[in-house]
Amino acid sequence: MEAADASVPALATEPRFAQRLRQRLEAERLLDRRYRLQEVPGGRVALPVLEEELGRLRLPRELPCGLVRLQEPAPSRAARRRPPARELRDQLRRLLGESWSEELERDVPRAWQRHGDLVLLSEDGFGAAPWEKLGPALWETVASALGARRLARRGRVLPDGMRSPSVTLLLGRDGWVERVDNGIRYTFDVTKCMFSPGNITEKLRVASLPCSGEVLVDLYAGIGYFTLPYLVHAAAAFAHACEWNDHAVEALRRNLVLNGVQDRCRVHHGDSRQLELCDVADRVNLGLLPSSEEGWPVACRVLKKATGGVLHIHHNVETLPAPAPVLRAERGSPEAAGSDGEAQHPTEDGGKATRRAGTRPEWQRWAEATAARIRGLLAELHGRPWRTSILHVEAVKSYAPHVHHLVLDLECRPALPA
Ligand SMILES: C[S@@+](CC[C@H](N)C(=O)[O-])C[C@H]1O[C@@H](n2cnc3c(N)ncnc32)[C@H](O)[C@@H]1O
Repeated sequence: MEAADASVPALATEPRFAQRLRQRLEAERLLDRRYRLQEVPGGRVALPVLEEELGRLRLPRELPCGLVRLQEPAPSRAARRRPPARELRDQLRRLLGESWSEELERDVPRAWQRHGDLVLLSEDGFGAAPWEKLGPALWETVASALGARRLARRGRVLPDGMRSPSVTLLLGRDGWVERVDNGIRYTFDVTKCMFSPGNITEKLRVASLPCSGEVLVDLYAGIGYFTLPYLVHAAAAFAHACEWNDHAVEALRRNLVLNGVQDRCRVHHGDSRQLELCDVADRVNLGLLPSSEEGWPVACRVLKKATGGVLHIHHNVETLPAPAPVLRAERGSPEAAGSDGEAQHPTEDGGKATRRAGTRPEWQRWAEATAARIRGLLAELHGRPWRTSILHVEAVKSYAPHVHHLVLDLECRPALPA
C-alpha cells in the first residue's frame, strides 16, 4: 500500500520578512489559507503555499526564503470555521467564473465519505455538461476545497454477488485507505471493496456479544467487518472467515494482521456454499443481503452437532408503512406465536432473559418462518429434532423505502441429547 503524503509545501523565511512574504504570496494568490503560519527549525516562519500552484512559484530574490514541507500542517482559523460544503461551492464558483449558474450550484455534491486523505464522493452531482470541460482542474479544486489529497467517486454497488463498488479514482494513485471503527483498524481499497458505515450499530452489537472461547464461522466475511469485532472485542477463540472476492480477501488478511489476530483466524478463500467444514461452530454469521438463505444449509452443517449454537441471519425484510412500531416479546419459541404473529407465551427460560424492543409483525413473521426452515434443515441433516429460539431481531438500518435490514439471532440446539 502506498503511504499518502499529507504534508503541504511552504516558504520558510526569517520572522522579519514574514509579513512581506505573506503579502507577496497573497497578491500572487499562492498562499494556502487553509493552514496556519508555522514555526520551523532555525527560528524561521513557514508560510503554506498552494500545492497545485507550485509550478507558478518563483522565490523572491529580495526576500530570502526556501521551500520546505510542513509534515503536520495546522488548519487555519478560517478553515476551521468554514463548512466544507461551502468551501467546495465557493472554490468551484471561482474556478468557473462567468460560466457559474444555478444549475451547476444544484449539481455540487453535498455528501461524501472521508477516509483519511481520500474523499469518496457520492454518485449524485457533477452530472452537468460544463463540468467535463474543466478536465483535471475540476478534481484538483474539489480535493483542495475538501482538504483531500485523493478523490474518488461512487457509482452503484454492482449486482455481481461480490458487492463490488463501482468506484472511480479521480485523483491519486491508489484507493487504499485505513479507518478505525470501535478500536479496530480496517484497511481496504475503496475502488475494490465496499464499506458500509450503516452497519456500525451491528458491528457494535457483535462486539458486545459474549463469545469467549467460542468458534465462529463467518460465511460472508468481506474485509472482516464482523469477523474482527468477534475476535478483538467479543473474545471468540477462533474464526473461520469465508470470502470469495479476491480483493476483499486481500484486505481481510491485512486487517487480521493489523489487529494482531491472524493466528486466531483461518481464511477460506472461495464459495462458502462449498465450505468443507462441519461440526465446528458455536456461532455462525450470515451477513449477506438481500438474503443469506443460500447459506442456511452450510450454516446448519457447520454448527456443533452435539451442542448447537447461535446463527446471526441477515435479511432484507419488506415492511409495510406502519403508523408505529409494535412492542413485543423477543425471546421465546416461535411455536409460541399467537395468531397476529406476536410471541405471547413465556420464554423457554421462564422469561428471565426476555428483552423488549420495537419490532413489527412482518419482522416477527419472517423470524418465525426462518426459524421453522432452519429447524427443518437441522432435523433433516442430523435425523433428529432440534429446538430453535428467537433470541433477538435487530433492525440494522432502513435499506430502501419500506425495506429493513434485519438480523435474527437464532439459538439452535438438539432437542434431545445425542
Ligand atoms: C454484504 S458483504 C458483507 C461483508 C460484511 N459482512 C459487511 O457487512 O460489511 C457480503 C460479502 O459476501 C461475499 N460473498 C457473497 N456470496 C458469497 C459466497 N457464496 N461465498 C463467499 N463469499 C460470498 C461478497 O463478496 C461480500 O464481500
